[in-house]
Amino acid sequence: ALQLTLAIVKPDAVAHPLILEALHQKILENNFIVIRSRELVWKRQESERFYAEHAGRFFYQRLVEYMSSGPMQAYILARDDAISRWRELMGPTKVFRARYTSPSSMRALYGLTDTRNTTHGSDSVESAHREIAFFFPEFNVREWMERS
Ligand code: CMP
Repeated sequence: ALQLTLAIVKPDAVAHPLILEALHQKILENNFIVIRSRELVWKRQESERFYAEHAGRFFYQRLVEYMSSGPMQAYILARDDAISRWRELMGPTKVFRARYTSPSSMRALYGLTDTRNTTHGSDSVESAHREIAFFFPEFNVREWMERS
C-alpha cells in the first residue's frame, strides 16, 4: 500500500556533492516520489529530542553531536511500502555489517562509521508520522493520504 516515510541524508553525505547526488539517484531509480525536501541544521537540543529513545546508549552523545554538526537534508518520500523499501536501500545500521550483507546498500557504499552511516529512515508507520511532524510541522499526513 502507498506509504510515506521520513528520510534524512546525514551531514557527512550532504557535505559531499557527489554522494548526495548518488543518493538522489537512488531515490529516483527506486520509484520514490519526493513529496517534501528541506535542508536544515539542528541545534544540539533538537538532535537530543529527535534521538531521545537512544538517550543513555553508549553512542548517544556522539550521535547527537554529529547530527547537529552541519547541514542535513530531510525528505518526505512516498511509494508503496516506502518504509521497508527505504530501509532495505539503506542497509543495516552498522557499516561493516552493511558491507558484508548488503554491499550495494547506501550505508555499505557511503557509510564511514556506525554513527556516520549516511542516511536515516523511519522504522514504522508511527515513527514515520512522528518524524514527518518533527521536520515538516505544516504537513498534514492524513490530508495528503486522503487526497492521493
Ligand atoms: P539512525 O537510523 O539515524 O538511528 C539511530 C542512529 O544511531 C543510527 O542511525 C546511527 O547513526 C546511530 N547508531 C546506532 N547504533 C550505533 C552504534 N552501535 N554505534 C554508533 N552509532 C550508532
